[in-house]
Amino acid sequence: MSLDTTLINRQRMPVDDAAELWLFGYGSLIWKAGFAYLERRPAHIEGWARRFWQGSHDHRGTPEAPGRVATLIRQPGALCHGMAYRIAGDVLHGLDIREKNGYLRETTLMHFADGSHAEGLLYLATEDNAAFLGDAPLESMARQIAAAHGPSGANRDYLLNLATALEDLGAEDEHVAALAKRVQHIKA
Ligand code: SIN
Repeated sequence: MSLDTTLINRQRMPVDDAAELWLFGYGSLIWKAGFAYLERRPAHIEGWARRFWQGSHDHRGTPEAPGRVATLIRQPGALCHGMAYRIAGDVLHGLDIREKNGYLRETTLMHFADGSHAEGLLYLATEDNAAFLGDAPLESMARQIAAAHGPSGANRDYLLNLATALEDLGAEDEHVAALAKRVQHIKA
């Protein structure tokens, strides 16, 4: 199942092409920018936890065999580490297409290591989107990720690249670490 959110995103949060804004990445946007940016800084957001609960029918899976990719769920007290990018507004054209399988533009407060903060845009896939898969036992999520492939490559690479990027940032994420550990033991 999928729903193309490209047009919805342009309508619900219009951004001028020439504007400068911050983008917060917490999934593939940490380790695979693939767009032009003016500045890149590690950051975290509060009250959100990263979960592999969003289905990927277009990048890391297919409509018949969707993969699992990251989204965020509200969790009081949680910290989600990621990467902030200062970008020009026109970069959102490409990002809206990349994130079109259920992700909506939202704004968030990002915190930087020096104690400063800024408002940023992020792409969030909520549980009411058509591609949302939700929670499942760790073993079945790991098996689904280990088996799924899509036009952007193996789902396991998405997970393992994210786990490595988080380690490089010195960021702890038990959910990602547990999934990565399990997937590494499942044959490709
Ligand atoms: C993100 O990385 O911030 C959004 C989800 C993804 O593209 O993996």
